[in-house]
Amino acid sequence: MPIQILPPILANQIAAGEVVERPASVIKELVENSLDAGANRIDVELEKGGCQLIRVRDNGGGICGTELALALARHATSKVATLDDLEHIASLGFRGEALASISSVSRLTLTSRTAGQHEAWQAYAEGREMAVTVKPAAHPVGTTVEVLDLFFNTPARRRFLRSEKTEFAHIDELLRRLALSRFDVAINLKHNGKLLRQYRPAQTESQQEQRVVQACGAEFMQAALRIDSEHLGLHLYGWLAPQPLTAINEVQYCYVNGRMIRDKLLNHAIRQAYSECTGTSFQPAYILYLELDPHQVDVNVHPSKHEVRFHESRQVHDFIVQVIRQALQTAYSENAPDAVFSGIEDAAPDYPVSPLKNRATGQHQYSAPTGGYSSPSGSQLRSYGQLLTSELPSIPVSREAGSVAAPDNSDWPVLRLIQQRYLLSAQDDTLYLSDLVAIQSLQWLTQCNASFNEGLIAQPLLIPQRLDIARPHEWLAEYGIWLQKLGLRYNTHKNKQIIIQAVPALLRQTDMASTIPAMLSLLERYPVALSHQEWHSFIATWLKLPGLIPHHYSMDSARSLWLWLQQNVADWQNNTQLMRSVDLTNILEVFSRD
Ligand SMILES: Nc1ncnc2c1ncn2[C@@H]1O[C@H](COP(=O)(O)OP(=O)(O)OP(=O)(O)O)[C@@H](O)[C@H]1O
Ligand SMILES: [Mg+2]
Repeated sequence: MPIQILPPILANQIAAGEVVERPASVIKELVENSLDAGANRIDVELEKGGCQLIRVRDNGGGICGTELALALARHATSKVATLDDLEHIASLGFRGEALASISSVSRLTLTSRTAGQHEAWQAYAEGREMAVTVKPAAHPVGTTVEVLDLFFNTPARRRFLRSEKTEFAHIDELLRRLALSRFDVAINLKHNGKLLRQYRPAQTESQQEQRVVQACGAEFMQAALRIDSEHLGLHLYGWLAPQPLTAINEVQYCYVNGRMIRDKLLNHAIRQAYSECTGTSFQPAYILYLELDPHQVDVNVHPSKHEVRFHESRQVHDFIVQVIRQALQTAYSENAPDAVFSGIEDAAPDYPVSPLKNRATGQHQYSAPTGGYSSPSGSQLRSYGQLLTSELPSIPVSREAGSVAAPDNSDWPVLRLIQQRYLLSAQDDTLYLSDLVAIQSLQWLTQCNASFNEGLIAQPLLIPQRLDIARPHEWLAEYGIWLQKLGLRYNTHKNKQIIIQAVPALLRQTDMASTIPAMLSLLERYPVALSHQEWHSFIATWLKLPGLIPHHYSMDSARSLWLWLQQNVADWQNNTQLMRSVDLTNILEVFSRD
C-alpha cells in the first residue's frame, strides 16, 4: 500500500481511540471544556447510559460563531499557542483534539453563544473530510455539546460498551471526581429524564463538607482528618481517613492543580505514609489536592491527561509522605481523628493544632499560587532538605488508630518551640527548656541499640540514588553483614559506584551523598565480624556524625519527641542533658523591686 495522508475522519478516529473509550470519557472531555470556559453551572443529560445521547450544557464564556468550525477541527485550541505555554499549562485541556475526536465517532453538534453576540451558532462536522456546517441557532450565553449514537460508525468500539447500568456507574463516578475538583461549580446529572445528582455550589467549609458527604458518604467525612500544609510552593490539602472504612466505595481521589489524576508517585507516597504509621497495608481513603507552580509539573504525558510528571519528583514525594505521616501520627497519638492538622509549620506556637485555612471559595488557582510562587532556589531546596531532616522516626504507634495512650501531660504543657530546636514547657511555676537534638539522639540510640538482632529496617527509596563510594566493591562485600544490619540495600554499579536502593529511616531524609560515605568511613574502623559490643560502639559514634541528627524541628515533630520522652525515658525530668529548668530568679527580683 502506498504511503498516503489519512483522511481527517480516520486520523480523528485513530486519535479518538486513545481518548474516547466510553461515554464517561466523552463527558470528561466536555465537562473539562466547560470548566476551562469558566462555567459555574454544568448540566449533563444522558439517555441509555450515554450510549444514545450525551448533552453537556454550560454557562461559560462560549465560542463565537466565526471560531465554531475551528473548535471541531483537529489541533485547534484556544488554550496553548507556544511551546512556552505548554510548559506551564493552566487549563484542563490543551491538546486541541477532544471535540474533533468525539465528533469523528458520533453525531456531534456544538451550539454556542458568547456575551458579545446577539445570536447563537450551531456547528456539526460531516463526511470523510469532516467539513463543518455552521448555522444560526437559539442558545443563551454558554455552550451545549450534544453527542448522539456514540461509536455508531466504529462497531469494534461499540462492542466494548457495557450495559447501560455499568456505563452510567462510570459516568456517576467521573462526575463525583469532577465535583470534588471544583466545589464552586454546580453540576447536575439527568439520566433518562430523571435528575439523579445535584451538586450545589459549595462556598463555605461546611458546604464543601456536605458535598464530600454527598460524593463519598458520611462514613468517610466522619472519620476524615483535614490537612492543609504548605511549604516552598508545594501545597497539600484535603481529607484523609486514618482508619480503614467499611463502605464498599473506594475513596481515593487525587488532584494536581485542579486536575484529577492517577499518579504512581502520589499513590506510592500516600501508601508509604500509611504503612509507616499503621504497620498495615489497608486501602487508605483520601481526597487530596496538591497545588504547585505549573512550571514544576508536566501534564502532557498521556492523551487521557490523567498522568503527570513532576520535575522535582523526590521533593514532591517526600513532602506528601511527611505531611500525611505527621497528620496520622498526630491523630493516632491524640486519639482524635477529627483533629485539624496544619502540617509543616516551622515554629507553630498554636499547640496542639492550628485551624484549617478557610478554603471557602473552592477555586483552584491555575495561575501561580497566592503568595507568588517562584521556583525554589538552591538555598530554598537546601532548607527544604533541612526541613525534611527534621523528620522524626515514626514513634511506635499501635496498629489500631487511637489506641496509643497519650500521657497525661496537661500538668506539664508544651508552650512553644524556640529556634526550631528547643521546646519550652511548664510545670507548676517552673518553665523548662528541652533540647530536641538531644532527645532525638537518645531516641535513635535507644532504637538502634535495640535493633541488634533484627537489624534496622531498610526503607526502599522511590528514586534509587547513585553514589561514589571511593572503595572497591569487594570492600562492601566484606562488610556485607554490617550493611545488611544497618538497613542499607544497594546494587553495585561502575567501579567504586553503587546504586542505593533502600536505607534505614535514620538516613532517609539526610543528604545521602555525604552521610553514607561518612558512615562507610566510620565502618572501616570496625572489624568485619560484627559483635554486640561493636554494634553499640558503632551506633554511639555514628549518631554523632554531622548531618545525621536534624537541628530543626516542626512543632509536630517536637510534640512526637516530647511524647516519646515521657513514655520511654525513666527519670527524664531530671536528665539535664535533655532538659533544664529556666531560672527566673533574676527577672522576678527585678519585678519585685519595681
Ligand atoms: N464548552 C466550551 N465553552 C467554550 N469554548 C469551548 C468549549 N468547548 C470547547 N471550546 C473551545 O474549543 C476548543 C477545542 O476544544 P477541544 O476540547 O477539542 O480542545 P482543547 O480543550 O483545547 O484541548 P483537549 O483536546 O486537550 O481537550 C477549545 O480550545 C475551546 O476554545
Ligand atoms: Mg478540551
